[in-house]
Amino acid sequence: IPVDPFDLVIFGGTGDLARRKILPGLFRRYCSGQMPENARIIGAARSDMEAHDYAALAAEAIQEFGGGKACEDGTLEKFLTCLDYVTIDARGDRGWSELQARVAGKDRIEAFYFSVAPSLFGDLAERLQSHGMADSKARIVVEKPFGRDLASAQALNATLAKYFDEKQIYRIDHYLGKETVQNLMAVRFGNMLFEPLWNSQFVDHIQITVAETVGVGGRGEYYDKSGAMRDMVQNHLMQLLCLIAMEPPARFSPDAVRDEKLKVIRALDPVEPHHIVRGQYDADPDDPDAMPDYRTAVDNPRSKTESFLALKTHIANWRWAGTPFYLRTGKRLCARSSEISIVFKDTPHSIFGEEAGRHRNVLSIRLQPNEGITLGVTIKEPGPGGMRLIDVPLDMSFADALGPDGAEHVDAYERLIMDVIRGNQTLFMRGDEVEAAWAWTDPIIEGWTKRGDVPKPYDSHGAGPDTSTQLMRRDDREWREIT
Ligand code: BG6
Repeated sequence: IPVDPFDLVIFGGTGDLARRKILPGLFRRYCSGQMPENARIIGAARSDMEAHDYAALAAEAIQEFGGGKACEDGTLEKFLTCLDYVTIDARGDRGWSELQARVAGKDRIEAFYFSVAPSLFGDLAERLQSHGMADSKARIVVEKPFGRDLASAQALNATLAKYFDEKQIYRIDHYLGKETVQNLMAVRFGNMLFEPLWNSQFVDHIQITVAETVGVGGRGEYYDKSGAMRDMVQNHLMQLLCLIAMEPPARFSPDAVRDEKLKVIRALDPVEPHHIVRGQYDADPDDPDAMPDYRTAVDNPRSKTESFLALKTHIANWRWAGTPFYLRTGKRLCARSSEISIVFKDTPHSIFGEEAGRHRNVLSIRLQPNEGITLGVTIKEPGPGGMRLIDVPLDMSFADALGPDGAEHVDAYERLIMDVIRGNQTLFMRGDEVEAAWAWTDPIIEGWTKRGDVPKPYDSHGAGPDTSTQLMRRDDREWREIT
């Protein structure tokens, strides 16, 4: 179903995110018929260029980052006619009247994507207002990082609130746009099977792992000021934790869902120092030039920033009291794998005797790659050998279950941009959620900074520092293998 006609202005329209995600994503929505032919995408950036130069930049980006087969049949050319460009100075006057003239359409949805450094958010918002573009129908889209601590996030929220209502602000966390992340809600609240067991009485613990094989790449300068906590845990892992732990919202509407997520974040216990493991990756011994160690990659020989973080936390409420949540994320690990595992408790009594063996049910929700859900179930080992119990997976890979044509692959960004146009904020973070997440994060970071904690080195292509394994072993538990 096509969305209504829109004008989407991309500030930072020539930048990395626009080239890798936003433009290719919009192109795919165009190919699928969801983006109407009369929609307009206006790139706005500092560089001097004409509309046709911008179309060429977009064409190149689409070829490189995901146009695919549709590029060959003339669709790309048609899509490019939707593009326009304005040279703009975010902190000056240049370009603003031209931009205003281009988005003056009365009955069109107007969205402004702030794909720029957060330090420019205030300047952009102010100029949008002074040029008559911040009216009540405008929507703005802002990227992470949304602040680097509570104070800066509050300041950003206050700045945006001067010009826009909360209902107009779409804070992106691209993890919320991932197909399986939404499936998480479908699985929890669309089945009778799981919800009765979804609490501390039946769940032993929950693990959330987001492992990456890539290092910091060319983003060293940004990353070294952030680290895994600010880059991944405060936002992506926190959102996953909220969706797993929240109470059932009364309906699938933006504020009903976000109210429940907020309650989870506010109920998070502070994290004890000995429940935190931080690491920095070593060089790949086989190719240290291409894959140097973390400190070389960020060009900071004394860096104390973590490229790996594991921690244990608790949610202090009736449902989860006593159930640990283990979070783990890192770069340059052995596999790219994002998985949430709900590990259930042992059966109260084994009627087969301990020698038959005992296995815990584990429900694993795999976000990427090979999206799917696996439930470990205990059965009898086949054969004449008496009652021996084994654990077998009840496996549902979405690709297998739905068939190759069963599910259209929609990238997180394209889904979220279409949600902006449709005016659906369910998969976007509300200002109070972001602040609550920082309120939990800040004391943890302050704690390790005060203690002068130095991250432990870990092998490239491994599972992180040994202390991460110990964090689990101390509790008589194991991390799930990263595969
Ligand atoms: C980004 C982080 O938000 O998410 C990156 O800044 C990280 O450091 C990326 O690599 C991971 O996203 P995905 O979709 O590849 O899991």
